[in-house]
Amino acid sequence: MKQTIFLFFTAIVLFASEPIRPIPASIPYDRAKAALGKALFFDATLSKDGKVSCATCHKMEHGGADDKPVSIGVFGKKGRMNSPTVFNAVFNFRQFWNGRAKDLIEQIDGPVHNPVEMGLTTQELLDKLTKNAYYRGAFAKIYGKGGITYAHFKEAIAEFEKTLITPGSKFDRFLQGKAKLTPLEEKGYELFKALGCVTCHNGVNLGGNSFQKIGTIIPYAGNELDDRYAITHNPEDRYVYKVPTLRNITLTAPYFHDGSVPTLKEAIKKMAYYNLGTILKPETIDAIAAFLQTLTAKVANHE
Ligand code: HEC
Ligand code: HEC
Repeated sequence: MKQTIFLFFTAIVLFASEPIRPIPASIPYDRAKAALGKALFFDATLSKDGKVSCATCHKMEHGGADDKPVSIGVFGKKGRMNSPTVFNAVFNFRQFWNGRAKDLIEQIDGPVHNPVEMGLTTQELLDKLTKNAYYRGAFAKIYGKGGITYAHFKEAIAEFEKTLITPGSKFDRFLQGKAKLTPLEEKGYELFKALGCVTCHNGVNLGGNSFQKIGTIIPYAGNELDDRYAITHNPEDRYVYKVPTLRNITLTAPYFHDGSVPTLKEAIKKMAYYNLGTILKPETIDAIAAFLQTLTAKVANHE
């Protein structure tokens, strides 16, 4: 008995000392609202040209992001930023690269109205929903008569996004003592900590919990569009972005806010160069890439 208690506490202490935390197996969400939100998320008729849905730029089969440097919205118009993943976005402390939305609900104001994304006014959106018999029924069932409102539209999509979490990756099972990493993966994790990647990429999402600069040591050579400076106008916020999650990072190429980096290995190399001032050896990059691969897992509740 004493020994079991001892082991239990050792496990807790070890677990608490790791800078990365596993994704919970499930989080609470409203099933009916999530089912409605899922229909809305995949519905391209809810855009100016009838061709673009949330899923156009946040593809389930591409790790919740798209495969383009910058996203393409209605009428083939190009955006300015690389699409971040919606998987595990619920765990981010803010939404968007520069954190201008405080949560998933507020975030939706962006794509719906953005002329290079879905391009609708609130009224146009509500008219489309009202004309659709399925939505009339579904909104009424959940929200009652007069249930089709912009607030309810956003709430339903945000509920669906709560289902897009990816627990049970090999790395999380390792943290929970349920799986072993290969020597290369373990070496990669040790390097990730020893080099200092973990100072910015930590917590449940290995990111999504602080704003940091790209180019802390060597000035970044790419664009600085829509950084924190665009919001605060504080010169120190130039090139500052929300640290992106590294969950499912093997699936979401290309990388960086400007989509300028085509492969994961190049992203690791550039990060070490700009943010640690180090030129990594190929074998170090391989080890870190092997570790990052253990962060990929399937969406748990996708129905
Ligand atoms: C035309 C492509 C496009 C469409 C359509 C689109 N998005 Fe996005 N999404 C993006 C891009 C690009 C960003 C990053 C923009 C930025 O940060 O400035 C983004 C950011 C996000 C984020 C923030 C993630 C994070 O880590 O900060 C969420 C959540 C999200 N979108 C959900 C949605 C939802 C829900 C819809 C549908 C209502 C939607 N998106 C429609 C391209 C798109
Ligand atoms: C000082 C904080 C900081 C450190 C240290 C750091 N990163 Fe980052 N990382 C960021 C920020 C900020 C971004 C977003 C940069 C951008 O898109 O412009 C990022 C982006 C990335 C990306 C691309 C993610 C995507 O979705 O586009 C990868 C991969 C990455 N980092 C891995 C690493 C690795 C590996 C290390 C260690 C060698 C590391 N980072 C060190 C802050 C940091």
